[in-house]
Amino acid sequence: MRLLAYSISFALSLASFSTLSNARKWHDSGTGTIIFEEAWTIPELLDQLGNKSAALGGTNAELRANLLDIHNQRLTLMNQNNVDFMVLSCSQPCIQGISNPTEAAQLAITVNNQLAVSIANNTERFGGFASLAMHNATVAAQELKRTVKELGFLGALINDYQQSGPDNSTLLFFDQPEYDVFWQMVTDLDVPVYFHPRSNIDQISNLLYRNAPFLLGPAQEFAATLSTHILGLCTNGVFDRFPKLKIIVGHLGERIPSDLVRIDEQLRRQLPLGMPMKKNVTFYWSTNLFETTSGNFATDLLQFHMKEIGLDQILYSVDYPYVDIAEGAVWVDGLNKTLNKKDLDSLKRGNAIKLLRLND
Ligand SMILES: *[C@@H]1O[C@H](CO)[C@@H](O)[C@H](O)[C@H]1NC(C)=O
Ligand SMILES: *[C@@H]1O[C@H](CO)[C@@H](O)[C@H](O)[C@H]1NC(C)=O
Ligand SMILES: *[C@@H]1O[C@H](CO)[C@@H](O)[C@H](O)[C@H]1NC(C)=O
Ligand SMILES: *[C@@H]1O[C@H](CO)[C@@H](O)[C@H](O)[C@H]1NC(C)=O
Ligand SMILES: *[C@@H]1O[C@H](CO)[C@@H](O)[C@H](O)[C@H]1NC(C)=O
Ligand SMILES: *[C@@H]1O[C@H](CO)[C@@H](O)[C@H](O)[C@H]1NC(C)=O
Repeated sequence: MRLLAYSISFALSLASFSTLSNARKWHDSGTGTIIFEEAWTIPELLDQLGNKSAALGGTNAELRANLLDIHNQRLTLMNQNNVDFMVLSCSQPCIQGISNPTEAAQLAITVNNQLAVSIANNTERFGGFASLAMHNATVAAQELKRTVKELGFLGALINDYQQSGPDNSTLLFFDQPEYDVFWQMVTDLDVPVYFHPRSNIDQISNLLYRNAPFLLGPAQEFAATLSTHILGLCTNGVFDRFPKLKIIVGHLGERIPSDLVRIDEQLRRQLPLGMPMKKNVTFYWSTNLFETTSGNFATDLLQFHMKEIGLDQILYSVDYPYVDIAEGAVWVDGLNKTLNKKDLDSLKRGNAIKLLRLND
């Protein structure tokens, strides 16, 4: 009975999505923010979180409750802080932490359907990014297509590399030619893919952080590992093969735009060694790569990045519930001292409307 009721309500939700697919209706106040590195999860995946992390000033139990919630405290905070629209995605490592390909593919479908059903009664405030099993690029491409076409999702969020193999230690990076079939689908659908960090597999954490465990997670580990993957996409020529591909990188670009002088200079020396990349990394930050301000509300750095990569590539986001929505709102509203009205509007919402194609 429960299953039947579930399938009926799921079919109804799907019907409501298909009517939305032509003209999306979202709550556009004209001034509110759009945020889209915002985590959510299902009860079955809560244990991936471990019991250590907590939002600043909160407990681990509160963090867990906030990750599961959509319509209560999350929506209240959005209303209190002038957030018009939030795109939800599955908290790390989600499917990238599942080594078994069949299990991963099935769980991705479960997570995506659950997200679609959970937001179905308020798609004016909430959208979804797909979770994808990345073991097999064809399977990932098909699931992305299903979630975009049938569930109205706005793109995908991938939590860095896909672990696989009997002891998790076969790491799959999506900068290899076998993923071209996936990137082809992404560009055909014209949706962005968010690259979010993940906690490393135990073997790597033990080797690299044994003497400095406090550096695990956002302070160091996340940016170090994810920036390598992003630079892998660049140097292995993915953006040369897919010039229209759009990749979003959080936390002010995992530090890459802060270091372009040295990166470009040193990579130029790799050209004679057969590096497939045709342009330079700065170039891809003007065409293919976008950054958000999630969890990195640093005004001076934002201004520097505006000079390095241009405001068109920079978008506001928060990283709720790991970061406080109110803290983000105070920061971004205070930027009216630094940015002109037009630029601030682009950062808060205009660039997101374009990148997520909310009005298409
Ligand atoms: C974390 O704590 C919860 C509740 O106390 C417990 O059920 C769960 O097994 C713990 N998870 C881990 C990964 O230690
Ligand atoms: C959507 O459903 C949830 C769960 O039943 C409920 O808490 C929420 O108020 C509903 N939202 C709307 C806009 O109907
Ligand atoms: C990937 O999935 C496709 C479609 O199910 C299948 O035809 C193909 O054999 C798979 N590739 C590998 C390497 O398993
Ligand atoms: C592999 O990963 C799973 C899930 O993340 C974990 O439960 C398991 O202990 C890991 N195995 C090894 C050998 O680390
Ligand atoms: C990067 O490439 C662009 C053109 O593609 C060029 O104008 C620029 O000078 C290059 N920058 C560096 C630091 O090499
Ligand atoms: C900036 O916005 C705040 C409200 O968010 C307002 O109080 C303040 O006067 C504005 N400052 C400028 C320079 O416009």
